[in-house]
Amino acid sequence: MADLRLACVVGARPNFMKMAPLLRALEAWPEVQTVLIHTGQHYDKNLSDIFFEELGMKRPDISLEVGSGKHGAQTARVLERFEEVLEKGPVDGGSYDRVVVVGDVNSTMAATLAAVKLGVPVAHVEAGLRSFDREMPEEINRLVTDSICDMLLVSEPAGLENLRREGHPEDRLHLVGNVMIDTLFWLLPKAKDRDIHSKLGIQPGQYGVVTLHRPSNVDQAETLSHLLDVLIETSRDLPLVFPIHPRTKHRIEQFGLGDRLRDAKSISQLPPLGYLDFLALTSAAKVIVTDSGGLQEESTALDIPCLTARANTERPITVEQGTSTLVGNDPAKLQQGLRQVIDGTYKKGSCPELWDGQAASRIVQALTGESAPAN
Ligand code: UD1
Repeated sequence: MADLRLACVVGARPNFMKMAPLLRALEAWPEVQTVLIHTGQHYDKNLSDIFFEELGMKRPDISLEVGSGKHGAQTARVLERFEEVLEKGPVDGGSYDRVVVVGDVNSTMAATLAAVKLGVPVAHVEAGLRSFDREMPEEINRLVTDSICDMLLVSEPAGLENLRREGHPEDRLHLVGNVMIDTLFWLLPKAKDRDIHSKLGIQPGQYGVVTLHRPSNVDQAETLSHLLDVLIETSRDLPLVFPIHPRTKHRIEQFGLGDRLRDAKSISQLPPLGYLDFLALTSAAKVIVTDSGGLQEESTALDIPCLTARANTERPITVEQGTSTLVGNDPAKLQQGLRQVIDGTYKKGSCPELWDGQAASRIVQALTGESAPAN
């Protein structure tokens, strides 16, 4: 195989656990040079730095430091700064052969656009997912990214169907499985050694984990307040652990809901957690309540009931085969799901095919056109 220079882009928390196994798998290929670019969309220690440490990922070779901002401004900063990176090329001269992007955040879309405009081909890991809800910024990011990149690496069969329907040629499609689950299976033993349960005074199997950060759940006072009411009520029967995303924290205080939440003594409010502590919590939870895309998949792989606070999902396999149920932001549906979990009548799921810890090696095969070198 000829030498290959890859510009690998990450930007926000859910990107790191998708890129880490890929970089690790590529270490076996001396002909492949990887340059890791962090856009800086997420920059807090707890949303960014801690993941590099815990996932054993090399520090970014290049940081774009775009920071937070409105969608247009944030996207524009990535476009402008990543274009410069590509024009400069790798430090030892020449140019990049390919850009690799993951997921569906603003950085994913902006990096893809900058690259394709300069004629650099792009591989998209987690291609083809569609919620069919264009009010979600991530759906726009997915549509734009997939429509212009030339290698589509897909995590579940629905993604393939979507891309075929959109007319993508067959030779661009690769069903590789779920690379985020590679990270999960790799680090699960390490997560089991954490002492977070004793620190929080909770027993494995006897608590729920909550995360909420989507604008549709947290940006309106009434919606957020009703969701919190159900959680407060539930915490009387089942203690809850709630690591709070900065956006949600800000909204809770802005809407004057902070005191009500602080009064609920069985809800542990925490800052965003690192990968290992969070996996320690989710892997031993009785139930997960979330609006995160990644956590829907992780709970399916972990076989933990997941009540997904969304009206739709771009990851249908987690509902059809896995442990997730869509409850929207309807307090009654959330309450009903929680009741079923507590009563032991909640549905059973199973882990999808190709969510087997080997997705990264299938991605490397697609990128290099060859099977992994024998050790
Ligand atoms: C982003 C992704 C979303 C993903 C989520 C995971 C987009 C459109 N959204 O949403 O798909 O599920 O990451 O967390 O790309 N902030 C901090 N510290 C940080 C970063 C952000 O305090 O390190 C605060 C800022 O006030 C910022 C807000 O969080 O305005 C939102 O950050 P942003 O990156 O715009 O979107 P997320 O809601 O994190």
